[in-house]
Amino acid sequence: MSRTGAGPAVAREWVLDRLLDGPLRPEDLRLRTTELGPLQPGEVLVRNEFMSVDPAIRLRMDRRRGGSGAYPEGEPMGAKAVGVVLDSAAAGVPVGARVVTFLGFRDVAVARADELEQVDDVVGVHPAENALTALGNPGLTAWVGLTLIARLEAGETLLVSSAAGGIGSLALQIGRLRGARVIGSAGTADKVRWLTEELGADAAFDYHAESPGAALDRLAPEGLDVYFDNTGGPLLEAAVPRMRRRGRIAHCGSVSGYDGGGSPLRIDDVARIVQNSVTLRGYLVDDHRDAWPRALEELRGWLTDGRLHAPHTILEGLDSVPEALSDVLRPAAAHRGKLLVRLN
Ligand SMILES: NC(=O)c1ccc[n+]([C@@H]2O[C@H](COP(=O)([O-])OP(=O)(O)OC[C@H]3O[C@@H](n4cnc5c(N)ncnc54)[C@H](OP(=O)(O)O)[C@@H]3O)[C@@H](O)[C@H]2O)c1
Repeated sequence: MSRTGAGPAVAREWVLDRLLDGPLRPEDLRLRTTELGPLQPGEVLVRNEFMSVDPAIRLRMDRRRGGSGAYPEGEPMGAKAVGVVLDSAAAGVPVGARVVTFLGFRDVAVARADELEQVDDVVGVHPAENALTALGNPGLTAWVGLTLIARLEAGETLLVSSAAGGIGSLALQIGRLRGARVIGSAGTADKVRWLTEELGADAAFDYHAESPGAALDRLAPEGLDVYFDNTGGPLLEAAVPRMRRRGRIAHCGSVSGYDGGGSPLRIDDVARIVQNSVTLRGYLVDDHRDAWPRALEELRGWLTDGRLHAPHTILEGLDSVPEALSDVLRPAAAHRGKLLVRLN
């Protein structure tokens, strides 16, 4: 324990005054300044460096979510963030430690030591951003989806949707590292080029320029063994009838419907799932914590020897949070890789 009384006396933080009944607008968020009291035993003061901008934040902003899953109205919002401990009243979390908390949306935060994760070993070798990309939730989510849920094997054909996004760009690369033939979908021609020319996709298509079904018939005439689904909606509808026998769909998320508040998981051709013995399985990365050490070891090895890249886009400053949130929810979004906001 190394309490010093150091650090700022106030935090700037984004608040959601009312849960949303319709699409997100920038004015739905309010920036306020709050005084920070003295640290209580077991607490630390954290200076946030980066916040992870996740589409699923929008689900917690929705009135229909209700219960414990929704953000409390009039309170600061939460999201994964990495930062440095400025002051500590907690045994085992010294000043200077790198930590991941769920206290994004603010520049500094008071965190409980039992609700944070120390990541000094990760950022000792890699930049702090990686704790929110390849060596954090996105890397683990891509690894769990392909390894434990879809059980991807070498030589199989894999489709990844939102392949230029945070989780998709990692799933695409992990698919290649596992020896699969990988097809990516994305919302702009530039991203499609990036997927094939820089990330190593065997093929890619722009789902605005061509219907997903036509693109898959052209690029995977033999069908798909695995679909890593980040979007739900029309891409899922197109993939299901094109799954090969004993195909597997890892349903990671349904971003195409988040800002409408409803579920875009629509499958017209349910009979095909039976005829082809297709498995469609949703999952939460947090339910697979026992596998995280194995996943992190493999991800860290690939990163260290340069076979895996951790693509990300950084928007500068706490003030850019509303812009970042609306970007991550829209088709043909501007960011590539994981979207982060630099908070300090
Ligand atoms: N299962 C889990 O445990 C778990 C954990 C974390 C996240 N997730 C899920 O993983 C998915 C990806 O998250 P991420 O943080 O990596 O976000 P991301 O892919 O970096 O950003 C979202 C992307 O979705 C695409 N998009 C938006 N609207 C769309 C639409 N109508 N149709 C098709 N694509 C659309 C946009 O790219 P385009 O340019 O391609 O349109 C946008 O860049 C989300 O569904 C998220 O909820 C799941």
